[in-house]
Amino acid sequence: MSDAPKKPALPNAQTVTEVKHWTDRLFSFRVTRPQSLRFRSGEFVMIGLMGDNDKPLLRAYSIASPSWDEELEFYSIKVQDGPLTSKLQHIKVGDEIILRPKPVGTLVHDALLPGKRLWFFATGTGIAPFASLMREPETYENYDEVIMCHTCRDVAELDYGRELVESLADDPLIGEMVGGKLRYFPTTTREESPVMGRITTKLEDGSLFEALNVPPICAENDRAMVCGSIGLNMDLKRILEGFGLEEGANSKPAEYVVEKAFVD
Ligand code: A2P
Repeated sequence: MSDAPKKPALPNAQTVTEVKHWTDRLFSFRVTRPQSLRFRSGEFVMIGLMGDNDKPLLRAYSIASPSWDEELEFYSIKVQDGPLTSKLQHIKVGDEIILRPKPVGTLVHDALLPGKRLWFFATGTGIAPFASLMREPETYENYDEVIMCHTCRDVAELDYGRELVESLADDPLIGEMVGGKLRYFPTTTREESPVMGRITTKLEDGSLFEALNVPPICAENDRAMVCGSIGLNMDLKRILEGFGLEEGANSKPAEYVVEKAFVD
């Protein structure tokens, strides 16, 4: 037997089951799910690694997988000098991460009043909670139409979302429910692509509604969920309120909800 001191077990450890690098700035990974963890699609949890001083280094991450999935999926940016993501980007299958099993968040169906059309507005890794909600049956039970708008700097940064959207039609569990209800509107701002520009501009000049052939957003029919940078969130709050929508919360459902895309 070795006399070497045993490494202390990580608190709330979960095992990495899959890692996929999308660009040099973005990666996604899946981990085992604690049996006791219940969450609502769209919520976030604290995850991380042990820091140098043997203290957990945790950050808020939206769960990108739906509530019915056996595993948990996350989608992350890689920041070369970021305290957590500089290390997290090197995880491999079989490694352990820390997961604090206390899901919370406002991007949940409970925070919205009933409506006809649901808009998801995301920039960058802000698509993570919608990766969960796009795979959630309730999304399609509650709405006639769901429109996923995702804006990134470059075309490659759209890949995670695009692949997910494309996979849904044939998904054995959710495919039939999605059945033509989900529309996808990707745009880029810094690299040439079929649709270029910020989503905020397209909302303000009406070109988004024209492109999708839908009426402008109104409080009676439309509901929205927003997840991106603080700048995007503030701009969209102003724009959505201009259309007459009110901000909702778990305790007081209304017409739109906002959450910051956390790790930067
Ligand atoms: P832009 O290239 O014009 O800054 P980031 O990678 O910095 O998080 O940005 C992701 C995407 O979000 C980029 O395409 C960026 O456009 C866009 N973006 C950033 N701020 C806003 C904002 N306030 N309103 C709309 N889009 C934004």
